[in-house]
Amino acid sequence: MSIQITIDGQPVATEAGHNLVDVAADNGVYIPTLCYLKGRPCLGTCRVCSVRVNGHVTAACSVPVADGMQVEVETAELADMRKALVEFLFVEGNHNCPSCEKSGRCELQDTGYELEMMVSRFPYRFPLRPREVVAEQLWLERDRCIFCQRCVEFIRDRKTDQKIFSIKGRGSTAQIEINAELANAMPPEQVRQAVDICPVGCILEKGVGFNDPIGQRKFEIQSVRERALGEKKK
Ligand code: SF4
Ligand code: FES
Repeated sequence: MSIQITIDGQPVATEAGHNLVDVAADNGVYIPTLCYLKGRPCLGTCRVCSVRVNGHVTAACSVPVADGMQVEVETAELADMRKALVEFLFVEGNHNCPSCEKSGRCELQDTGYELEMMVSRFPYRFPLRPREVVAEQLWLERDRCIFCQRCVEFIRDRKTDQKIFSIKGRGSTAQIEINAELANAMPPEQVRQAVDICPVGCILEKGVGFNDPIGQRKFEIQSVRERALGEKKK
């Protein structure tokens, strides 16, 4: 059903039920995301997509659009709130971009650039979560995990649909786990999918490192904003 909403006061014609993040992008409005993947169920774990819908702050990726909806994205307050959430993620882990294999391919890093983050306003926690190397093809740099749960929900054993990744513990003691037996049965393209689906450099492939040269990495070629809006880099 055709409906009309407003985004930052501008009328937008769309279809009822479409995802607000996608509707905004289709109309040239970038809403940052870290856990959302287009076409996949919403996870709602990062809240980096926070906007105001009919006066209430909510995660845009969890919102199906409805007729008359009024959406605010580009207010100073909301922009700062989204930036603060990204700053939180940086201090909750150890994100040493210059030495990370995912630098230039990391969605957290590129989102930080997009939101003009220079430094975090919050104290760094420097958590120590031991890396996990038990699986034959994959290893986990656990202190980079942002607990988005993409790997948990979307990377599953192809025969049994069992989860290969899981999160153990809660709060500051939480850490990502891998089921080595199931991980060892992953075909090579699923190993690559797991590495790619992780928005940061937590899930890494053994024996492969820094294989994309500097200057040719995903977000060096096209930023998260350009990818979301479907723009080609000039
Ligand atoms: S390992 Fe990566 S994909 Fe999995 S929860 Fe952590 S950040 Fe997300
Ligand atoms: S992208 Fe919406 S909550 Fe993570």
